[in-house]
Amino acid sequence: MTEPSLPKSVTARAGTNIALVKYWGKRDAALNLPAAGSLSLTLANLGSETTVRFASDAGGSDGRDRVLFAGAPAEAKFATRVQRFLDLVRTRAGIQLPAEVATNNTVPTAAGLASSAAGFAALALAASRAAGLHLLPAELSELARRGSGSAARSIFGGFAEMSAGTRADGADAVARGLLDEKAWDVRLCVAITAEGEKAIGSTAAMERTALTSPYYQGWLASVPVDLEEAGAAVLARDLAVLGPIAERSALRMHACALAADPHILYWNPATIAAMSTVKTLRANGTLAFFTIDAGPHVKVLCRSADAPVVQAALAATPGVMRVLVLAPGQGAHILNEN
Ligand code: PMV
Repeated sequence: MTEPSLPKSVTARAGTNIALVKYWGKRDAALNLPAAGSLSLTLANLGSETTVRFASDAGGSDGRDRVLFAGAPAEAKFATRVQRFLDLVRTRAGIQLPAEVATNNTVPTAAGLASSAAGFAALALAASRAAGLHLLPAELSELARRGSGSAARSIFGGFAEMSAGTRADGADAVARGLLDEKAWDVRLCVAITAEGEKAIGSTAAMERTALTSPYYQGWLASVPVDLEEAGAAVLARDLAVLGPIAERSALRMHACALAADPHILYWNPATIAAMSTVKTLRANGTLAFFTIDAGPHVKVLCRSADAPVVQAALAATPGVMRVLVLAPGQGAHILNEN
């Protein structure tokens, strides 16, 4: 039976986000606190939809949460991550009921397209609401962060900035919106350069980088300036200023990870070819700038009017399989509550 005060089920949606000033390293692994801030763009169309229901009959035969992914029982690793996250929500709401969670992604999972960002942002909103909580955006961002650091940013639409915070409990390690999704007509063209899962997940890779890369302190020291300059460029809607900051942030993050031991290399030949394409586009007068996450794909920020030219140039690059053109999107929102 559902508790009378709880909604029967809540469905929420969130778009993925791509960092323009990267998050790479934690100051606290248990609470998932970032060692430095970050800045991102939330995207429309690529995202995650999650339906959550807390009820005594919602769990599986073992009485634990039932977790479905794309309509089928989720693999154990993913299910455990979701169950741990639901424990946080139950504690906060003071309930003990099991949940049924059904997630559908419109993002290639774990291929460096930040599926965890959209997934945990949607789950934070759906699960908290289904548990009877009405959290403020900053509280939702804090909750989403516990699932995945980048998810804290997908609570907000458009451009968002994540603070590293200084508090040990992480209450100030939250994102805030800088510019909503309608405020600046840019596009992110995503050049897909491989299929399948990334070589090493971001949490393990960040940990190895922090422990073994001689450049880790230098990387962390470089972030505050990037954040400040990128934040100002976003507010001024100045792509010519924002773009080079995004490129240097991504390259520094990858340089730092490359220097870990064993090294962490996410790129393939098509990744480098796509970076060259972007430089050629710029040499020919198109404002286009790349960023690369924990995977081999190349994401190119440009004006919406230039997106067809950028898309065509990336699609013609050897090794690029296809190119998605994505607009800024809304933050996490409720689709259905009953
Ligand atoms: O949120 P996580 O733990 O998947 O880490 C995200 C790491 C990057 O995507 C590479 C950078 C970022 O800021 O999103």
